[in-house]
Amino acid sequence: MSDFATYYELLAWFHEQLKPDLYVEVGVHQGHSLALVQPGTRIVGVDPEPKVAEPPPSCTIVETTSDDFFADPAALEGQPIDLGFADGLHHWEQTLRDVANLERHSAPDGTILVHDCNPIDDVTSARERTTIVWSGDVWKTVVALRRFRPDLSVRTIDVEPTGLAVVTGLDPANTVLFDEYDEIVAEIDQFAYNDLDRIGRVELLGLVT
Ligand SMILES: C[S@@+](CC[C@H](N)C(=O)[O-])C[C@H]1O[C@@H](n2cnc3c(N)ncnc32)[C@H](O)[C@@H]1O
Repeated sequence: MSDFATYYELLAWFHEQLKPDLYVEVGVHQGHSLALVQPGTRIVGVDPEPKVAEPPPSCTIVETTSDDFFADPAALEGQPIDLGFADGLHHWEQTLRDVANLERHSAPDGTILVHDCNPIDDVTSARERTTIVWSGDVWKTVVALRRFRPDLSVRTIDVEPTGLAVVTGLDPANTVLFDEYDEIVAEIDQFAYNDLDRIGRVELLGLVT
């Protein structure tokens, strides 16, 4: 286990350390992760069904899907993203697009965090949700990034309940994830949950415990 028990603790630490000017969160739900943002950070949240009762100060919530948001990201106002958090639809190829779009609009020294990258078991990492805790197959996003973007630093931190991946070394001009999207999806879709045991989580996910 890392020094941090939960992904909320680790997310709060990133806000304290980085003090991002602009934080973009894909998937805000009830706003629990938004509540960890420090004063002085402008927030853009994206969610087709936000349920945030009291948004924090300096927060714009755009009620749409991430794909639609990034097709015309006017709410960014041209400002680079210092810290991005991908926690939207828990299907890996969607998360890959979210990471690619966050990177395209990132500051070069920006950071992207990806929730749910260290799955618990086969059932909670299935494509269809049948459990309360549900990571979906988001972990495959990390496998894809490590294979197809070896220039990035991609590590998965073992925090409860289902891990948090940290992506740095971003290159907003790199178009590999867009240009090779179909090839990436075809190859990475072949991985199954038991490959995490067969090949190992350190190898596939860059797991840090
Ligand atoms: C797990 S919740 C987010 C939890 C929140 N980040 C937190 O930690 O408190 C996932 C959210 O993603 C949203 N979502 C689903 N599909 C989405 C999409 N295509 N684009 C953006 N958000 C999406 C859902 O509506 C839901 O509110």
